[in-house]
Amino acid sequence: MSPKHFLNFQGITKEDFHTIINRGLELKNSSDLKKTLKNKVLGLVFEQPSTRTRVSFEAGIQRLGGTSLFLSGKELQLSRGEPISDTAKVLSSMLDAIILRTAEHEKLEIFSQNSSVPLINGLSDLYHPCQIMADLMTYKEVMREIELENVCWIGDGNNVCHSYIEAAKILGFNLSIFCPKGHEPNATILESSKQFVTLTPSKESALENANIVTTDVWTSMNSNSQTKEKEKIFKDFFVSPEDMKKASENAIFLHCLPAHRGEEITSDMLEDQSAKVWVQAENRMHVQEAILEFLLLD
Ligand code: CP
Ligand code: NVA
Repeated sequence: MSPKHFLNFQGITKEDFHTIINRGLELKNSSDLKKTLKNKVLGLVFEQPSTRTRVSFEAGIQRLGGTSLFLSGKELQLSRGEPISDTAKVLSSMLDAIILRTAEHEKLEIFSQNSSVPLINGLSDLYHPCQIMADLMTYKEVMREIELENVCWIGDGNNVCHSYIEAAKILGFNLSIFCPKGHEPNATILESSKQFVTLTPSKESALENANIVTTDVWTSMNSNSQTKEKEKIFKDFFVSPEDMKKASENAIFLHCLPAHRGEEITSDMLEDQSAKVWVQAENRMHVQEAILEFLLLD
């Protein structure tokens, strides 16, 4: 039987979301963690840098009794041209689950087709599903009973934004995106969730009634380096404490991090009482423990 993978939210149901998030909260609040992943070995193949994704997966699997192996893309034979399909066959014969971070989403597709164990997207040029699971867990943890109705995205229509677009359709929330012309999300991904997503012409309209306000860097890892011209295009696409006052009462501000103060956020944004970014970062670990259990235990 082919294993379950986690490359984006295709094939993930609303119930799956709730199961994973509730389990993440349970794991976070447990004072007596059971070793549910005892002896499982997780491989992390990273072709790009990471602080949160790497550490949260490595710490998470250890908390549940397993171990991990970090494999920088540069140190694997991948960097000397070994096909990703061969790499997938070999690594999956020795490991129980694999995380892959890559600038080419297609590599995840090929890897998953050749892997005998679950593959998790640790960020690609197209999606960052683990991040959105942590964001939604954070919303539930902080807001408890208040249902998530509206999310506001400000900035580049990038990988993180794409995962929000997919989640909007599955969970049924409205996503308002305020992004610069020429930096809209991928048209196919947008089309697949079009009833739930609006590209708004102003920041004010995107913020209106938002329960979550979120943004991301102007230039992602898979993009070319940031030019002065790009900075001009993006200069109005930032979030400040003043902006948060225009969102719903009790709205929370999230940012996947790393953040660039003075670019997509003002220098004081992370100190605002609406900002829950440190809880959000910690929740990467708890929700990913739940994702690992979801994929590995039946
Ligand atoms: N948010 C996130 O994925 O951070 P890292 O790039 O540090 O893993
Ligand atoms: N959009 C960013 C997210 C980093 C976690 C990037 O891809 O670089």
